[in-house]
Amino acid sequence: MKVPFIDILRFEKNFLETVTQKSAELLKNGHFVGGPVVGQFEGDLKNYTQTQFAMGCANGTDAIQIALRAAGVKKDDKVMLPDMTFWATFEAVVNVGAIPYTLDVSRETLHLTVASVKEGIEKFKPQALILVHLYGWACPETMEIRKICKEKNIILVEDCAQAIGTKINNESLLKNATVATTSFYPAKVLGASGDAGGIFTTESSIANAAKILINHGRTGHYDHGMIGWNSRLGAYEASFMVEALKHLDAKLESRRIVCDQYRNKIKNPALKFIAPAQGVWENGYLSVALMEPSTRPAFIEYLKSKEIGYGTVYPGAMSEQPGAKDFLGGKISHGHADWIAKSVINLPCFAYMTQEEIDFVIKTVNEYK
Ligand SMILES: Cc1ncc(COP(=O)(O)O)c(C=O)c1O
Repeated sequence: MKVPFIDILRFEKNFLETVTQKSAELLKNGHFVGGPVVGQFEGDLKNYTQTQFAMGCANGTDAIQIALRAAGVKKDDKVMLPDMTFWATFEAVVNVGAIPYTLDVSRETLHLTVASVKEGIEKFKPQALILVHLYGWACPETMEIRKICKEKNIILVEDCAQAIGTKINNESLLKNATVATTSFYPAKVLGASGDAGGIFTTESSIANAAKILINHGRTGHYDHGMIGWNSRLGAYEASFMVEALKHLDAKLESRRIVCDQYRNKIKNPALKFIAPAQGVWENGYLSVALMEPSTRPAFIEYLKSKEIGYGTVYPGAMSEQPGAKDFLGGKISHGHADWIAKSVINLPCFAYMTQEEIDFVIKTVNEYK
């Protein structure tokens, strides 16, 4: 049996027929960019996430850039971010003319901690922080970090590219985030039919600025109050996601079941499965285990020989990327992000994985010596 790391083609019955029919209507009506379906998607998204304002844009990287600018980050501002994230988080800081400073993450929770944020504030005196919620979890210390940023007047942008549907203390993670972003890249838990992203905020001033930045800094049709981007959400992507959002809870549930079963049924001591912290309701984006770094290459070869897909999210710290060299303002490292990069292993996890596929992965991993 072959089990891919991810299969993005497991759609609900009649899903593709419905979106194809809706796309034909968009074509007939000449709704290519924007239009009523984008407004509908933004409204549905706002309701789902329970935030005050939800806006679509072209991708998750633009979303971070727009959020940083809309929240007030300026050229040469210092922006802290975790050293363990996807490169887009780092890139976005540089692309808005600010200076990235990386913070180490916890070996236990794999996320930023209050201690690491405080250490960074003391050392770097930053204007902003990007808190990244990875693996479909939420940073366990989100509430405290939000509080510290508020007290110290530090702009906080939350990168929730992997955390749509994630809850903290029984509430949507996005509900009380002052400003947050997500990605609707097709491999995400809520994927579009192409690239797309989202910006969420509780503040009308940030929402207004973001809307202007998304559309060429437009304050009127030919009035441009800001230097923005063309980051408008396409009508097809929005239409696809209006339908996908209707099935999101079912998708998340099927993913959570996979993560739970791996954690409960894989008994091989070579892998230590990590669960989200107490109070965090994961969306099942990724299954995460850690291995002794020296043992991971042989295990990966074993998975390959059994035709089981795998991931190593992420295999390198941001500050160590060749592209970081000319831009990194500073870093705090205790070696944790580097160690996680060499230790992490992700087993297949996607919506509507069959029980047969899950059982095969569990059995194969349990048999590994
Ligand atoms: C944590 C994180 N931030 C940002 C992004 C960027 O999103 P996009 O690929 O839609 O630009 C991703 C997507 O992979 C991500 O995982």
